[in-house]
Amino acid sequence: MNMIHAKDYSDMSRKAANIISAQVILKPNSVLGLATGSTPEGLYAELIRRYQSNDLDFSLVSSVNLDEYRGLSPENDQSYRYFMQTKLFDHINIRPEATFVPDGLEPDAARACSRHEEAIRNLGGIDLQLLGLGNNGHIGFNEPAPVFEKETHCVDLTQSTIDANARFFASREDVPTQAYTMGIRTIMRAKKILVIVNGEQKADIVAKAFFGPVTPEVPASILQMHPDVTVVGDEAAFSKLPANA
Ligand code: GLP
Repeated sequence: MNMIHAKDYSDMSRKAANIISAQVILKPNSVLGLATGSTPEGLYAELIRRYQSNDLDFSLVSSVNLDEYRGLSPENDQSYRYFMQTKLFDHINIRPEATFVPDGLEPDAARACSRHEEAIRNLGGIDLQLLGLGNNGHIGFNEPAPVFEKETHCVDLTQSTIDANARFFASREDVPTQAYTMGIRTIMRAKKILVIVNGEQKADIVAKAFFGPVTPEVPASILQMHPDVTVVGDEAAFSKLPANA
């Protein structure tokens, strides 16, 4: 695991943008696995800047997102499709038909999930998967559980995730209780993984996930078994790492 130390949030965003830029420059038709949450916002803003200054071209890039709330439409400003459009896709030259987010409006969960897996397969797999880290160690919406979930599936969100995401909704009752998410195997099949973390509220879980035992109770801990993982974190998020990490 490659731990890259950043000073602060904007430094983390730039360093992560360097890695994604290198991927897209070296392989213009890359398949990028993308994430939502507050952590990647600065990174996406940085990618937009680089596109605007002609340093990046997304015309051949495809993207697949990790997850989507079940029941939210693309027009709902809390849906992850809406997030991706407004924070990234609408501002770069990625082809709309080359962006895949699980379909939150597909009521048949099995169909929504198998279609997402099929989209990933048809693209030939993910070259670089970007991940944030939930406070409880979740990646995508793979919540702590007795076993690692494999493929894209429908999850019941834990109370701690609902609480953490409530800040984005008008009221707690508006927070969806289920989501479609790539599974652990889907994520682990990506050729490269880039995790970004910032803030002292992530310090404990960062140490636990990347330096503690591998267990489905800390879903991100499985990343220790992946051959090509880079974690970019700011000082606060890395403040509880073992010495020399
Ligand atoms: C959400 C998303 C995750 C994200 C996580 C952390 O629940 N499903 O993909 O990584 O929360 O969010 P944040 O970056 O806002 O801390």
